[in-house]
Amino acid sequence: MMFTEIGRNIEKAARLLQNGEVVAIPTETVYGLAGNALSEAAVTKIYAAKKRPSFNPLILHIANIDQIICYATPNAISLKLANAFMPGPLTLLLPKKNNVPDITTAGSNKVAIRVPNHPLALELLYQINFPLAAPSANQSGYISPTTAQHVYEGLNHKISYILDGGTSIVGLESTICEVMNDHILLHRTGGISANMLQDATGLPVIDGASHERLQTPGQLKSHYAPNTPLYRGNIETLIDQHRGKKMAVISFYKKFALSDNIDYYILSETANLSEAANKLFSTLREIDAQENYEVIITEIFPEEGIGPAINDRLNRAQFIHK
Ligand code: TXA
Ligand code: MG
Repeated sequence: MMFTEIGRNIEKAARLLQNGEVVAIPTETVYGLAGNALSEAAVTKIYAAKKRPSFNPLILHIANIDQIICYATPNAISLKLANAFMPGPLTLLLPKKNNVPDITTAGSNKVAIRVPNHPLALELLYQINFPLAAPSANQSGYISPTTAQHVYEGLNHKISYILDGGTSIVGLESTICEVMNDHILLHRTGGISANMLQDATGLPVIDGASHERLQTPGQLKSHYAPNTPLYRGNIETLIDQHRGKKMAVISFYKKFALSDNIDYYILSETANLSEAANKLFSTLREIDAQENYEVIITEIFPEEGIGPAINDRLNRAQFIHK
């Protein structure tokens, strides 16, 4: 069994990565479980520590956009997006070059690449001479971690080092998109909205996530699920439907019906969607850790800014009747 240390030593993280080990790293979206993306052995360790199915490919993290062409062949519009939003919460899906091993992309001839906007992650990337493959640093299927402590809770004894960079500012995983001939395909929505992608390129943005979900419904739907059953919709109606149960209500900015059975978790007193996104995963974990709740109830958030990403993650976190 491995002892898991939490610290701020970038040199130590770099040394471990150079030796083929995996290290949890902070990013502005969520924490990642990083390893040398060009090493089959290191990437194998990432899949094992997370218990991630080997058909689910990993994102390459690089220090700056000039490195994109080392691993992929971006077209002009992809480079325009890179210039506009990197470093930042955007991942581009691009045709891959041969130096990226098949195991990293799970056999796909496309590679997902991003430049994380976090000072410690960037400093680390400048100290090593390879890209980092990094999925979110959680056990496969559970909620992504936004603090070093979250990583520790899921991966204690499985990895030797967690680089602590504080709380992830965005709090939701990056937007993933792919530039097609006459449109942009949005594979996952996040901190960069569809409107921002459209404004930067002049191309329409088409949601590619819904059709992916149809291909593997159960698997992707439950991707971010807490253990406590979660229902979303009109909060007042849901409170009525679950009367008698101990409820945790995750509300955007206000309280609804009051009762001894209901605890409110307000994500942003000032109705700020970025603040709500930042607090969402830690709130879900906090509720899940208290075993007295029978249900989690939450609402549909406004479809502006990062709102669609909040709605997407809560949609996937919903309880599915089997
Ligand atoms: O914000 C983020 O993107 C975080 C931080 C750590 O960078 N990473 C993250 O990784 O969320 P992960 O592995 O939890 O989610 C990455 C998603 C997966 O759904 C995966 O299927 C998709 O990206 N993906 C990665 N490479 C791909 C590829 N070559 N083709 C299609 N999908 C890909
Ligand atoms: Mg993940």
